[in-house]
Amino acid sequence: MNIWTFDHEDDLNSTGAGLIASLLQSKPRAVLGLATGSSPVGIYRHLTDMYQRGLVSFAQASTVNLDEYVRLPEDHPESYRSFMNHHLFRHVDIDLANTRVPNGNAADLNAECAAYDNLIDEIGPVDLQLLGIGHNGHIGFNEPGSSLIGGTHVVELVEQTRQANARFFPSIDEVPVQAVTMGVASIMKAKQILLVARGADKAEIIHRALTGPITTECPASLLQCHPNVVVLLDRAAGGLL
Ligand code: GLP
Repeated sequence: MNIWTFDHEDDLNSTGAGLIASLLQSKPRAVLGLATGSSPVGIYRHLTDMYQRGLVSFAQASTVNLDEYVRLPEDHPESYRSFMNHHLFRHVDIDLANTRVPNGNAADLNAECAAYDNLIDEIGPVDLQLLGIGHNGHIGFNEPGSSLIGGTHVVELVEQTRQANARFFPSIDEVPVQAVTMGVASIMKAKQILLVARGADKAEIIHRALTGPITTECPASLLQCHPNVVVLLDRAAGGLL
């Protein structure tokens, strides 16, 4: 595991964007696994800037997103499809038809999950999977528990996650109670994983995930088993390492 800690936000973002851009330069048809949440936003901003300066193109790339809320309209500003359009897709030359986010409004969610796994198998393997981390160690929306699920599945969001995400909604009552998420096996199949965390509130979970026991009680700890993980942290998030 390569753990890089940065004093300046901009250096973290440019390093993350640089890793994605060099992948696209050497492999224009790369498959990117993308994430939402506040952690990747600066990287997306930097990638947009690189695209505008002619340094990177997404024209032939495909993307698969980790997760999506259940029963939140696709055009709701907090749906992960809206998030991706807003923070990256509409600013770069990607073909929207090559961008995938699970459909949390599918009538048959189990069929949607199976179709999403088939899609990942078809277009994959994912070359680089970008990840944030929840305060409880969740990756995607794979919440801690006595067991984890390998493939894409519907998950009940735990209270801590709903509270953490309530900052994006008018009130906690409007935060969805379920989500569709890629499972841990799908995440671990990516050739490279880029985990990003910022802030002192992530220091403890980063310490547990990267140095603690590998356990389903901290889904991100499974990343210790992956052969190619790069972790980008600000000083505060890396404070306990
Ligand atoms: C959400 C997302 C995760 C993300 C996590 C952390 O729950 N489903 O993919 O990693 O939040 O978010 P943030 O980066 O805003 O701390």
